[in-house]
Amino acid sequence: MRLQWPGPPVSFLTHFWRAMEPFLVKGTHPVMEKILNICQRVAVTDSTVLVAGESGTGKELIARFIHAHSRRSSNPFIAVNCGAIPPDLLESEMFGHERGAFTGAVGSRMGLFQLANGGTIFLDEIGEMTAALQVKLLRVLQEREIRPVGADRTIKVDVRVIAASNRDLATEVEKGRFREDLFYRLQVIPITVPPLRERRSDIPILVQHFLDKHNQQRPGQLVRIAEDAMVHLWEYDWPGNVRELENLIERMVILSEDGTIRVDSLPPNIRSFISDKKIPRPTLTDEGIDLNQAVEEFEYRLIDEALRRTKGNKQAAARLLGLKRTTLVAKLRRKGTGSAQGYVI
Ligand SMILES: Nc1ncnc2c1ncn2[C@@H]1O[C@H](COP(=O)(O)OP(=O)(O)OP(=O)(O)O)[C@@H](O)[C@H]1O
Ligand SMILES: [Mg+2]
Repeated sequence: MRLQWPGPPVSFLTHFWRAMEPFLVKGTHPVMEKILNICQRVAVTDSTVLVAGESGTGKELIARFIHAHSRRSSNPFIAVNCGAIPPDLLESEMFGHERGAFTGAVGSRMGLFQLANGGTIFLDEIGEMTAALQVKLLRVLQEREIRPVGADRTIKVDVRVIAASNRDLATEVEKGRFREDLFYRLQVIPITVPPLRERRSDIPILVQHFLDKHNQQRPGQLVRIAEDAMVHLWEYDWPGNVRELENLIERMVILSEDGTIRVDSLPPNIRSFISDKKIPRPTLTDEGIDLNQAVEEFEYRLIDEALRRTKGNKQAAARLLGLKRTTLVAKLRRKGTGSAQGYVI
C-alpha cells in the first residue's frame, strides 16, 4: 500500500489547528488570563469544577479546555444538558438502567457516567436538576460510584465532573431550590466567566479570531472589518456574549459582498445602540454618597474609555491615562476580583 503524504505543510497545520480549535480560549483581559491560569492548574487534578457565567460566555469551552489539558484528554468528554433532558429520563441517561427498570426498558443500558469513564463529564445547566436527582448526584460525587436505575449493585466510575450554570447557584441555594451540600461539593474550584461587556478589550481579539476561523471556511476574498465598525462592536453590550459575537461575524463573513464589514452592514440593533459612555458627574445627595465607590467608578469608566480608544492596547491606554502599564493592569485585575459578581479566582 502506498503511503500518502497528507499534503503541503500548510494544510497539515490547518488540520492541526482545526483539531485544537475547540479548546482555543481567546482573550488577554486580566480576568481571562487568571481564569486560564486556574484552568491549567486545575486540569492536572481530578477536582470538581463549577463554572458560572451568563449564557454564551464560554463555560463549555472552559470545560473542554480543562479536559484537553488533563491526563484524561484521550478519554471521552461527555456533555449533558440537564435542562434539555426530561427530568424523568435524566437519571437513566446519566446512570443507565437495568432491563425492566421501567416501562419500555427492554434491555439494560449504560449511562453517560459509565461512557465517560476515564474522562470528564460536563453537567450543563445543573440548576435545572430535580431535588431527587440532586441527592443521587451528591452520592455519586461522594462515593465515586453509580447505581443504574433498577439495579441493586453499584458500579465504580473514574470521572472528573465539571458542572455549569448560568443561574447564580448561591441564590438558588438561598431560595431552597438547590441543595446546599451539593453546591459545596460542586464548587471545589469555582470559576466565574465574566460577561463580554466586562472585558471589552477582548472584543477585537475575538473578532479577529472569528474572522480568521470563518474566512478559512469560505473560498475567495478574505473579509476584514472597518475600524469604525469595530468601534461599534466595542460599544455594544453583547447580551448573548461571545456566542452572539461569533454568530454575527460568521453571518457578516458569509454575506459580505466587497470583503469589508462596515457600519452600515451591521444589524440595526448594533448600529442604533447608544451605550452610555458619557462619564457622569457624581452628585452629592442628601443621603450622602460612598466617596470611595464613586471615585472607583469614575476611574474605571476612564480606563474603559482609554482601552476603547486604543482598541484594547494596554500600553497605549496606560500612556493616555498617564499610568505605567503595570499599574493599569493591576487596576483592571482589582476590578476583576472586586466586582459584585465576585470572580472567584
Ligand atoms: N474566549 C473564547 N475564545 C474563543 N471562542 C469562544 C470564547 N468564549 C466562547 N467562545 C465560543 O462562543 C460560543 C459559545 O461558548 P460556550 O458554548 O462555551 O458558552 P456557554 O457559556 O456554555 O453558553 P450557554 O450558557 O448558552 O450554554 C462557542 O462557539 C465557543 O467556542
Ligand atoms: Mg453551554
